[in-house]
Parts: sequence; structure tokens; C-alpha cells
Amino acid sequence: MKPVILDVDTGLDDACALLLAARHPELDLKAVTCVGGNVGLDDVVVNTLTVLEAAGRTDVPVARGAALPLLQPVRAAPHVHGVDGLGNLDWPRSSRTPGPGHAVELLRDVLRDAAATGELVTLIPLAPMTNIALLLRTYPDAAAGLREIVFMGGAAGIGNATASAEFNIWTDPEAAAIVLAAAAELGVPVTMYGLDVFYDVVITLDQARSLGDSPSAELARRLIEKRSELYQSDGASIGDGGAVCAVIDPAGLTTQPFPLRVELSGTWSRGRTIVDTRDWSSDLTNDPHGPSPAVVQVATAVDGKRYADLWLSAVK
Ligand code: BDR
Ligand code: CA
Repeated sequence: MKPVILDVDTGLDDACALLLAARHPELDLKAVTCVGGNVGLDDVVVNTLTVLEAAGRTDVPVARGAALPLLQPVRAAPHVHGVDGLGNLDWPRSSRTPGPGHAVELLRDVLRDAAATGELVTLIPLAPMTNIALLLRTYPDAAAGLREIVFMGGAAGIGNATASAEFNIWTDPEAAAIVLAAAAELGVPVTMYGLDVFYDVVITLDQARSLGDSPSAELARRLIEKRSELYQSDGASIGDGGAVCAVIDPAGLTTQPFPLRVELSGTWSRGRTIVDTRDWSSDLTNDPHGPSPAVVQVATAVDGKRYADLWLSAVK
């Protein structure tokens, strides 16, 4: 089994990812850490516990993390995720409470254990990377427990929060820049599962309605119905769930290594991920114009059907 940790701001699409990570037999979900983003931190925590409960995984440790980005206010997205972040589905909310420690401490502890045992963990951030930046700045030794980071965020093409920037990076650009720099320095491989592939793993309403009647299947159906309603189509992408698919089945994802920078200023471009696809960009590891950028595996294409089937088979 592959040990993984999810860092989330649940959210309808992180709910799709959580269901998969909690139920797939090849993943060992070590912990889930929460951060403010799509909704405020209190709702993120309840939503995360609620989804894990539907998945039958009340054993998974959950911790509260940063409520706010490093430098700016959080700007939630109730127009996408509903006021409660779970699409106002009227799904029974978990009464479980998260663990007493901070997310950064839970991440540190799990990763130090992993470093000690040699069973390295894949970290899957699906949200603003505030918790991860705080972790790598506070306890850089914890990086020794990381096999890799596969994050949902950014875009080589257009953004969604703005024309330039994808929501997770736009919410906390400094955190993303810190994580990329720290990962490069500490030798942790990074994959960016960005908007270029985000919408390409689609579940049809018919597929969602054939899932069955377990609590997990029922929630999965409701999530897809809600997202279909939002996008006014007869199906919906599993969004961040695709990043979890990429960890389970990397062969379904096409990636290319590119230098990657995060725009930290700019009137209209703050939070943009600048993917340097120029032919000679590999030379930028010795960039004369400034600090060398991190080189990241950027997802350029995904086998949508393969990942949709993977998701359907796990969440039912
Ligand atoms: C992102 O949008 C948010 O709704 C999702 O949680 C995902 O992380 C894509 O920008
Ligand atoms: Ca998210």
C-alpha cells in the first residue's frame, strides 16, 4: 500500500478526492490535515470529518491547520461550494472532533515516523499550501519522510480565480513559492496537477446514479449531482480527485518537467504559476536573472476514462 497524507479545504471537489483516498485499497491514508480555503476552517474540518465518516474511515487522524493564508485574507468560494462548503446537501454532519494537535504537528509526526521506518509518504495538497509551507519552514527534517508531493493547483494555461491564477495558488501565493523552493532544496520531487487537466476526469450522472446505496456511494452520487448542477451539464469532473488518481495510477497522467515559478506581485497576475515551456528552459536551472526556479513535473494530459473508472470502482 502507498502511504499518503491529504491536505484539504473540503469543498465539493476535495470531498471527491477524500472519498477515493479513504476507500482505495492500494492507499494507506495516514492523516488528513485541514486549511482554510474554499470555506472557513471550521467548515473545512466538519466537512472533512463528515466525508471520512461516509467513507467508513473514522480511524483516520484529522487535524486543524492554518485558518488564514500567510499574508492575505482568505477569500472563500461559496458560489462554487455552497455556504457550508459541501453544496448545502443537507447531509448529516459528523459530530467527531479533530485531534488536539495542529496540522503542522500531525504532518511532522507522521513524516518523522515515515523517515524512521523508510516507508516514505506521498503528500497530496489539494488546497492553499499554507500548512505545507509552515511545516517545511518549521520542521525541514520532516521532508526526509516524503516520497513526493503531488499537488492540485496552478495552471500552465488560464486560471479560474482570476484569468491568471488558479484558486489554491491565488489564495496563498507565498506559501506555494515557499513549498516549491523548499522541495527543490530538500530534494523532494513535485508534480503539479493543475487546471490543464483538472476538468478532464468526468463522471456522468448515469454513472453516479448507478453507484449503489452505501453511504459512500450515496455521497459520491450527491457530490456529482451537485457539481453537474453547478456546471449545468449531465456530468461533472472529480476535480481534485484526479490528483489522488495520479498517485494510485501514475501511468494515466502525462507529465513533463518544466521550471515553475509563482508570481508574487503583478496587478492582475498575482498567484499565477509561470510554467516555462520554452525550448531552452532546462538551462534555467542556472538562471542569470535570479534564483533558479524549481523544476516540477507538470501534468499536461490525463486519461480521463481510466481515472473515472478508478474513482467509480473505489467510492461505490
Ligand atoms: C480548486 O478549486 C477549488 O474549488 C478546489 O478545491 C480546487 O482545489 C481548483 O482551483
Ligand atoms: Ca481544494
